[in-house]
Amino acid sequence: MLGSVNFDRAADFYDATRAFPDSVAERVGPFLAEATQLSGDESVLEVGIGTGRIALPLAPFVSSIYGADISLKMLQRLVEKRGDEEVFPAIGDAHTLPYAENSFDVVLVTHVFHLVEDPVAVLAEIGRVLKPDGFLLHTFGSYANSKEMLPIVNAWRDNSVPTPRPVKWSNIDDFFPENGWQVVRSDELKYEYHTSPAEFLERVEKRQWSSTWHVSDAELARGVDAIKAAIDKHFDGEGDAPTLTTSTYTAQVIQPKA
Ligand SMILES: C[S@@+](CC[C@H](N)C(=O)[O-])C[C@H]1O[C@@H](n2cnc3c(N)ncnc32)[C@H](O)[C@@H]1O
Repeated sequence: MLGSVNFDRAADFYDATRAFPDSVAERVGPFLAEATQLSGDESVLEVGIGTGRIALPLAPFVSSIYGADISLKMLQRLVEKRGDEEVFPAIGDAHTLPYAENSFDVVLVTHVFHLVEDPVAVLAEIGRVLKPDGFLLHTFGSYANSKEMLPIVNAWRDNSVPTPRPVKWSNIDDFFPENGWQVVRSDELKYEYHTSPAEFLERVEKRQWSSTWHVSDAELARGVDAIKAAIDKHFDGEGDAPTLTTSTYTAQVIQPKA
């Protein structure tokens, strides 16, 4: 079996490439609080907490957030950024969380199920540490949804080697019901921002997306050529053109089926 994907290699560029635009970052906490009807007293665990991109803005809306991650370097970034937020990260693997059963009101997971060795085992482990009436808060963002950027994003997707993992973005919707959990609430935060085809190309060339980490140099070069061809075709070769795109950040409240 493939191991989990440790983000140590991404710690230096993760926040620069994954952060919400500033005007959106300040909306993340209130959005999650409202979407999940938080009372403010919740004890939360974030599995795969990384640099605290979600936990730090959420912290003022809950009692405390514990965090587990296998990447020491990502956690070091979190600690550098943390002010007085009640966020307490620890090295820990999602398959064997270092917490007692029935410990948390909420377990938060963002962009992690497609990276772990055994997502079904991780879901069961989340069920173990959740209190009986607690819930899994599953959140995820889409990248560059606009019709302008789609040919560029698809050029990479169609010419890269699929990520060899049990759960992929394309089947994440089926993953929970297939494993005995159900989405009981869902809400979306939509926002616009500027990006460019050149920015996407650079992130592929520098292997900043985890979807580039398992491909060989030759496979990466094929994807890069496909992106360049799409820039020529759809942007007249003007890869730097600022392109307004939309993104959606989704929050799902998920519980075991009764
Ligand atoms: C894409 S990042 C997401 C980080 C954060 N949740 C966010 O949205 O910014 C995925 C994180 O999951 C961590 N991770 C991967 N497999 C893991 C595992 N088995 N147990 C705990 N963390 C894991 C990685 O090290 C990385 O920090």
